[in-house]
Amino acid sequence: MHLLTLEPSFAAWHRVARRALQAEWAWDTVLWEDASDSQLALGLLDETPASVAQAAVSAPTYSVPKAFMDMARTVACHRSAHRWSLLYRVLWRITHGEHHLLKVAVDPDVHELHTMEKSVRRDVHKMRAFVRFREVVHEGQVLYVAWFEPQHHILELNAPFFIDRFAGMQWSILTPERCLHWDGVKATYTPGVSRHEAPTGDAMESLWLQYYAHIFNPARVKTHAMLAEMPMKYWRNLPEAAIIPTLLEQASPRVEVMMERSHALQSQLKEAHPADVPNTNDLEVLRDAAATCKACPLYKDATQTVFGEGHVSAEIVFLGEQPGDQEDLAGKPFVGPAGRLLDQALQEAGIDRETCYVTNAVKHFKWKRQGKRRLHQTPVQAEIHACKPWWRAELAIIKPRILVCLGATAARTVLEHAVKIGDVRGEFMETTWCEKTLVTVHPSSLLRQPDPEIRAEEMARFVADLKLVARALASR
Ligand code: URA
Repeated sequence: MHLLTLEPSFAAWHRVARRALQAEWAWDTVLWEDASDSQLALGLLDETPASVAQAAVSAPTYSVPKAFMDMARTVACHRSAHRWSLLYRVLWRITHGEHHLLKVAVDPDVHELHTMEKSVRRDVHKMRAFVRFREVVHEGQVLYVAWFEPQHHILELNAPFFIDRFAGMQWSILTPERCLHWDGVKATYTPGVSRHEAPTGDAMESLWLQYYAHIFNPARVKTHAMLAEMPMKYWRNLPEAAIIPTLLEQASPRVEVMMERSHALQSQLKEAHPADVPNTNDLEVLRDAAATCKACPLYKDATQTVFGEGHVSAEIVFLGEQPGDQEDLAGKPFVGPAGRLLDQALQEAGIDRETCYVTNAVKHFKWKRQGKRRLHQTPVQAEIHACKPWWRAELAIIKPRILVCLGATAARTVLEHAVKIGDVRGEFMETTWCEKTLVTVHPSSLLRQPDPEIRAEEMARFVADLKLVARALASR
């Protein structure tokens, strides 16, 4: 019998196993054991045990499938002391007449290797998911420290993942067996520590808890799945574990509220259908018909229908999204803050608003109360779709030379697909509705811009787009 004592790593096992194989030591003549911590610390271990080195002087070499080596690298991290002998037995069998052994899934050795490999992989995944760094200030430097108790010897295997992910930080992952430290340039390992040496609680943690509570989706709560994914043993190291029971308790009332809201929305949307528009060439007939439109539920909370406004023979039509608070009260489009900005931009571009027709993709104001204010709400697709026959009928009567879509809602309903304004703005396109269709920003987006310099730049770009319209109109 040969006793082989080795540093517990894949590299050491690989080195020794290759020599043992070359020495023709059959699997059942070799005993494998992990070196003790003191042997390792005192450097008492031979790189390759002398007996194997001598025995292997003029030995054959074997080719081993890559799949086996990959699997062995993972299985080497398994906690079981028996992993080295199992690996050697399989290696022996592969090199002694059973080259395709790994394909025999029902073979007990192969089955055991697969089970061990799976268990290590699962542990690797758990470590990636459940390591939580805590901020520690040490001698004026910010460090991040995490505590984790892996099931297997996976710290080295997982090191590249954490180094890659947190390359720019200085951190340590402490485990009972070994600790990994990253200083931003190189990784070092030190012996394991006890749990008490890992820090608990800090400002980062409370931020994380807030974030976790925010992303916690009660509708997705499946307690069994949660327990399977996040077994109890990891919970004590996770800050969020402390709040999960409360979140779960609150989950069912929150789900009920979500369900109620969703049902209310669904039934409202069921009410939406394309507006029934009269077949007419008269804009005034159209306007009158729109005044009583109930094609979607938005009419219920709006003061009135805000129909388009302008000359019937206008050469330019501007299509916005929906009336705002002031438009809803006045019954006219673009008369509030966004309208004033549009007027200013038109003036700068040399376009007289009086010669244009201005309208919206949705004709009722959609809003939500906040204190005394009525806050704008973006219309949903069903509402936009229900309103489509109105602007189509307006365009069919006016037949403009140029249609300008102000913002994403207008662009989407006209182009019939979602677009990024930046991708299409400033170029004339031919659409079903108008030979020259141009997309640009909505003036409200400029009003929302908090930085005065950026707002001025955006305004200049908006005016530049409108100047394209003015020039196109001038060149007949
Ligand atoms: N925003 C729009 O899209 N239309 C208006 O009429 C007013 C603001």
